[in-house]
Amino acid sequence: MEAKGKNSRRTLLKTALAALCGGGLWLMNSLAKRAGAIPENAETVVTVPIPAANQIRFYDRAIVVAGAHELEVFSSICPHLGCRINRAESDQIVCPCHGSRFGLQGKLLHGPARHGLQPLPFEVDRTNAVLRIALKNHERA
Ligand code: FES
Repeated sequence: MEAKGKNSRRTLLKTALAALCGGGLWLMNSLAKRAGAIPENAETVVTVPIPAANQIRFYDRAIVVAGAHELEVFSSICPHLGCRINRAESDQIVCPCHGSRFGLQGKLLHGPARHGLQPLPFEVDRTNAVLRIALKNHERA
């Protein structure tokens, strides 16, 4: 009789523990989704101001290059080992980690990277003077 009581208590404890763990996982998953931490292959769109002509702007996930008459937008993630590119020197975009250099059209000028910057799709909203840049959620922030 006592053994049966222990077994039912164990079963009750196991069930309660499983319910707590399941609820905790659900809560963590919900919070992570709200925080944008879980990629769902949906695109994220970021909005940034249109730069003046002949300027380069560096953002967390994008580089915007404004020429005299055209705009280019690239991922700021270096194609070598993934450092965030955040500077330019004399019309070259330079990775701070190992010194890869890229032209203003994103072409590789000097390694160790083996290819150029990844272009990102974007649209221009001249009414509001902004660019809307589409980022894949698998791209790092
Ligand atoms: S990560 Fe950019 S050059 Fe290595």
